[in-house]
Amino acid sequence: MALDRNPGPNDLSAFWMPFTANRQFKKAPRMFVGAEGMYYKTSDGREVLDGTAGLWCCNAGHCRPKITEAIQKQAAELDYAPAFQMGHPKAFELASALRDMAPEGMEHVFFTNSGSESVETALKIAIAYHRARGEGARTRLIGRERGYHGVNFGGISVGGIVNNRKMFGTLLAGVDHLPHTHLPGQNAFTRGQPEHGAYLADDLERIVALHGAETIAAVIVEPMAGSTGVLMPPRGYLEKLREICTKHGILLIFDEVITGFGRLGSAFAADHFGVQPDMMTVAKGLTNGVIPMGAVLTTGAIHDAFMAGPEHVIELFHGYTYSGNPIASAAGIATLQTYREEGLFENAAALAPYWEDALHSLRGLPHVIDIRNMGLIGAVELEPIAGEPTKRAFTAFLNAYEAGLLIRTTGDIIALSPPLMIDRSQIDELFGKLSAVLKALD
Ligand SMILES: Cc1ncc(COP(=O)(O)O)c(C=O)c1O
Repeated sequence: MALDRNPGPNDLSAFWMPFTANRQFKKAPRMFVGAEGMYYKTSDGREVLDGTAGLWCCNAGHCRPKITEAIQKQAAELDYAPAFQMGHPKAFELASALRDMAPEGMEHVFFTNSGSESVETALKIAIAYHRARGEGARTRLIGRERGYHGVNFGGISVGGIVNNRKMFGTLLAGVDHLPHTHLPGQNAFTRGQPEHGAYLADDLERIVALHGAETIAAVIVEPMAGSTGVLMPPRGYLEKLREICTKHGILLIFDEVITGFGRLGSAFAADHFGVQPDMMTVAKGLTNGVIPMGAVLTTGAIHDAFMAGPEHVIELFHGYTYSGNPIASAAGIATLQTYREEGLFENAAALAPYWEDALHSLRGLPHVIDIRNMGLIGAVELEPIAGEPTKRAFTAFLNAYEAGLLIRTTGDIIALSPPLMIDRSQIDELFGKLSAVLKALD
């Protein structure tokens, strides 16, 4: 019987790893066994500087005492409470704290367990909201090429990354896509928001003309596209999207799973760009990545549209066993407190110019064809090896790990997003190591 087998700690075969080259990994495993502050510790006893905040999520750094204590305490006090028809105080407390931190107008919070679930939830709320208001024909969803909205069916349908879509059949019906905003010919090596490309938002008018506004529920975009390799919104682009959505009664959803919680130096990208969405999806930095949790924030108008009918009847037939889980809620409360008490968003904003200069100093190194940045995010795009796309950046990733630096790659793009507690000397260390790695690349 399987239970009698003792595979020992070195058997790597059972775990089918997500978004991983499994065979490559299992031949030469890269294992983290500890973490503190800005550094991971590897199984062979080395320190690795975290250039990616885990997976864009450990914004406060690693093993932060307040968050650890909150989780320990909550686990001993109330481990789990049913999420449906029952409550516990911490979920309400976190929802209020999140609302208070969010841009003006975001009034209500629906908890999920991940960014992917937040996206599915927001898309469902959008369609159900229109139906509740008597506009049940508004079912179409508009995403964007190169968008990443997680890996569930709604998310990959509105998403625009071909490898995440092409293996999985026909996806959701009634979805259309805006063009992506990557214009390397005109915008390469831009610092901050690129000049060119606001006109790409006008494509929404073409889509509206094609389908009729009365069939469209929502547009979902990442205000700054992260997972596709860091694409900044061109100047004026988000403002135009907002304007066209408002004109046609279409909801605008900002997927802030990466941009939320200080990444751009403001609490949310909506604050940073001064553009107000109707809904926001968040996850990752909500609990500092420590416990799975996500959320959808909505306006009062969206929430209130559901609050009709008899009071004993469930208003929205949606939710997860772990929506607002007590331990995740406790982690979220402690995380938001840590951000505030340590001024981490302010630190990100203050360091952004230093970060920008350090990043752009890589210009001119071998194979570097573009560099982009905003807040504490950076991307270095490499010329792909002919016939072997992704190999050059993946080699850089492996070599950086050996050199004591964690970076992330998508295609041939290196993405950087360190914890917001980083300081100048660690920025120097990060770019010193990365520069050496790039100089040695074939
Ligand atoms: C913008 C965006 N949306 C959704 C997701 C999916 O989040 P999760 O992996 O927690 O499901 C991600 C993850 O990187 C993301 O960047």
